[in-house]
Amino acid sequence: MPDILIAPSILAADFARFGEEVEAVDKAGADWIHLDVMDGHFVPNISYGPEVVRAVRRHTKKPLDVHLMISPADPYLEAFAQAGADHITVHAEAGPHLHRSLQAIRKLGKKAGAAINPATPAESLAHVLDDLDIILVMTVNPGFGGQSFIKSVLPKIAEIRTMLEGRPVDIVIDGGVTKETAGACAKAGGNVMVAGSAVYSGGTGYAEKIEAIRKAAK
Ligand code: DX5
Ligand code: ZN
Repeated sequence: MPDILIAPSILAADFARFGEEVEAVDKAGADWIHLDVMDGHFVPNISYGPEVVRAVRRHTKKPLDVHLMISPADPYLEAFAQAGADHITVHAEAGPHLHRSLQAIRKLGKKAGAAINPATPAESLAHVLDDLDIILVMTVNPGFGGQSFIKSVLPKIAEIRTMLEGRPVDIVIDGGVTKETAGACAKAGGNVMVAGSAVYSGGTGYAEKIEAIRKAAK
């Protein structure tokens, strides 16, 4: 099993202090910084776009893991790449052609990710397993931070790890990840834990909160 990585999501940070909030989790041991981009169309919420990614880029050298909850995504891939994203993840459901989107991301020199909603089966990724670096499994319905983990998604994580047949693909678990749920996610085969509210809510002490999730996932 690959090492467990922790990716705090700045969706739960103080939007007026992104720079400091990113530096704080960087210093606290974050492995990646997760950025949730929402368009008010693919998901019922609007967050931020490439200019925020560009601004955050100046505050950390850690990989910027950009999760696009937008449809269509293709017209914006270049803008996110130029803004400093290291990983760009598109939703399989966002369409129109997942394979084309992943190829476009790799052509931009970035790691390519495919995300699936809780209701989307693992098989929807079977045709792109050699075209991606990251699979993001949503364990809440996308759109908001602070929702409860959907436990029934766990078998799908294991199914995807098996489907990968040893390919070096990161399985990112996103939504409701806490020190209480991270153990089951890792056991099923997830190796990257996105954590928004579990890190940023309830005040600072980010290092303790990140380490608690990492320890629970070991
Ligand atoms: C939800 C986003 C998540 C979110 C996770 O649509 O994709 O990344 O920020 O937040 P928590 O950890 O609070 O569930
Ligand atoms: Zn996300």
